[in-house]
Amino acid sequence: MSNLSFILGRKIRLIIYTLRIPYFYTLDYILQFLKFSNWIKKNKYQFKEVFEERTDLYKYINNKIIKNKKITYLEFGVANGDSFKEWINFNSNKKSFFFGFDTFTGLPEDYVNPFYNLSKGNFSQNGNIPKLKDKRHKFYKGLIQKTLPIFLKKFKKPEYLVVNVDVDLYSATMFILCNLKDYIPKNNIFIFDEFATGIHEFRAFKDFVDSYRIKYKLISSSNDCYSRVAIKFII
Ligand SMILES: C[S@@+](CC[C@H](N)C(=O)[O-])C[C@H]1O[C@@H](n2cnc3c(N)ncnc32)[C@H](O)[C@@H]1O
Repeated sequence: MSNLSFILGRKIRLIIYTLRIPYFYTLDYILQFLKFSNWIKKNKYQFKEVFEERTDLYKYINNKIIKNKKITYLEFGVANGDSFKEWINFNSNKKSFFFGFDTFTGLPEDYVNPFYNLSKGNFSQNGNIPKLKDKRHKFYKGLIQKTLPIFLKKFKKPEYLVVNVDVDLYSATMFILCNLKDYIPKNNIFIFDEFATGIHEFRAFKDFVDSYRIKYKLISSSNDCYSRVAIKFII
């Protein structure tokens, strides 16, 4: 970098700082969406299948990729248990086990989006956990930032790990990925439910893989603009 561009850079920073130009969330959102859409365009050839519905995505992953083998399934963001129940029904292997993490009192912070906002408390189940007949499950109630470290104290790297990230927020997604990093086995699938938002789950995923220099392979996707994606980390 030349001396001139270095001085110019400092001057521009100083001007912006002095003018106290506010942070434009919408601009940030658009820039992140551009980042996401360019990344998708570059990588989407890797998707073997793209489905309309997430149910079909789940079925494909379980039947064709996992082949209904024994899995350890972790779901972050359970709410009323719709996606959790689908997974426990699809994977009928008796040795599989399913863990769900949620406050069950809704989002712990506002989810800001220029097109629609979800405020703190959205998705609240009033503290009630979903009721399931299938015994192969356990729920952890509370902030993931509190429950996940406790859960991991006794957790061993499983043979096949399936993680469904549906927390919507950057903060929790980043926390989950960084904390699970050392527990990811060779056989793994991570599903992100709100990937296309760009500013939250995708941003956390990109920050995570770039920071830890982790390679990955795209497996399959569903919904418009690749909103849901299934990814395998190359461990
Ligand atoms: C979109 S909903 C989950 C929907 C569910 N997976 C389904 O499809 O049926 C998002 C959930 O993430 C939970 N959540 C977000 N951040 C969290 C955090 N830091 N700790 C615990 N739960 C969190 C919220 O409570 C909310 O229930």
